Amino acid sequence: MKLLVTGGAGYVGSVCAARLVESGHEVVVVDDLSTGHADAVPQGCRFVEADVAEVAGSVLAERFDGVLHFAAKSLVGESMVDPRKYWEGNVVTSLRLLEAMRENGTPRLVFSSTAATYGEPDSVPIPETAPTAPTNTYGATKLAIDQAITSYASAHGLAAVSLRYFNVAGAHGQFGERHTVETHLIPIVLQVALGQRDQVQMYGTDWPTPDGTCVRDYIHVTDLADAHLLSLQHAEPGTHRIYNLGNGTGFSVKQVIDTCREVTGHSIPAAVAPRREGDPASLVASSQRARDELGWTPHRADLTTIVQDAWNFAGLGRPA
Ligand code: UFG
Repeated sequence: MKLLVTGGAGYVGSVCAARLVESGHEVVVVDDLSTGHADAVPQGCRFVEADVAEVAGSVLAERFDGVLHFAAKSLVGESMVDPRKYWEGNVVTSLRLLEAMRENGTPRLVFSSTAATYGEPDSVPIPETAPTAPTNTYGATKLAIDQAITSYASAHGLAAVSLRYFNVAGAHGQFGERHTVETHLIPIVLQVALGQRDQVQMYGTDWPTPDGTCVRDYIHVTDLADAHLLSLQHAEPGTHRIYNLGNGTGFSVKQVIDTCREVTGHSIPAAVAPRREGDPASLVASSQRARDELGWTPHRADLTTIVQDAWNFAGLGRPA
C-alpha cells in the first residue's frame, strides 16, 4: 500500500513507519519536527517537513491507500495549562486531515488514540465498552477525534480504526523514545542508571494498589506497531473500530524500578514524592477484542524485555 504517516519522526510514528517499510509498503512521512527528530524518519520513507494541517490536502492529492495519524500533542500536564495547543494541534489538525481524506477519496485511516479517553476506570481490565470520561484535556481531545472519525466513517464510508494505547515503552532497534521534556516513567528511571539524573521520584506511595504505587499496563512499541499493520488489513469501509492495546497485566511504579535495577545493574535511588495530579491509580487494558478481531498477539509482553530494549536504545546515546 501507499501510506501517509503523520508524526513519523516521533516515537511511535517512527517505529510504525519502520515496520511498514520493512513490510514492503511505500511510506510518506509528514512531520513538522515540533517534537520529532529528522534522523528518526526511517530510511526508505519520503519525508515532508511540514504541519499536517497545512499540507494534508496537497499531499493527499496523490493517490494514497491510507493514512496512519500519529502527529499530536501528547503531554497530559501541558494539556491542562495550555488547552488551545491541544484543541488546535490535535482536534483542528485532525479535522483538516479528515476533510483532505474525504476530498481526495483516501479510503483508510488508523488513528493513534489513548487509554486517557477512559479517565478513571470503574474497574480493570478496561474493555472498549467502558465509559469514556477523560480526566484531562489531552484525553478529551483524543476522544473528540475518535467521535469525529466515527461520523466520517458512517457519513463518507471511511474505513477507520482507532487504537487506544496504554503505556507504550521499549524500542524497535535504533527507533525509540527521545523526548526533550521527558515525563514517562521508564525513560526517566533509565536516565538515573545513565547518570543523567540523581534519583527517580515516585509520585505517591499511598494509592489503593498492592504496594501503594500506581499500576500501569506497559506495551512494547514493536507489538503496538504490529497492531497498526493488522488494522490496515482489517479496516472495513463505513466502519470505525476501536481497540485497546495493552498486555492485560499491570506493573506498579516500584515493580518497574526494580525491573530497571535488574536490567541495568544500577541501584537507581528512588524517593517518595507527592501524587501527580490527574493520575488514575490503576490502568490495565483488556485487549481481547484486538486479539479476537485483528488476530493480534504481543510477542514482547514481558516487562524485562521491554525495559531491556529501552535500555539498549538508551545506550545508543542519541540526543533528545
Ligand atoms: N511516574 C512516577 N515518576 C515519574 C514519572 C512517572 O512515579 O518520574 C508514575 C506516574 O505517576 C504513573 C506511572 O509512573 O503512575 C506512569 O507514568 P507515565 O508518565 O510514564 O505514563 P502515564 O500513565 O501517565 O501516561 C501514559 C501516556 C499518556 C496516556 C496514558 C494513558 O504517557 O499519553 O498513558 O494511560 F494518556
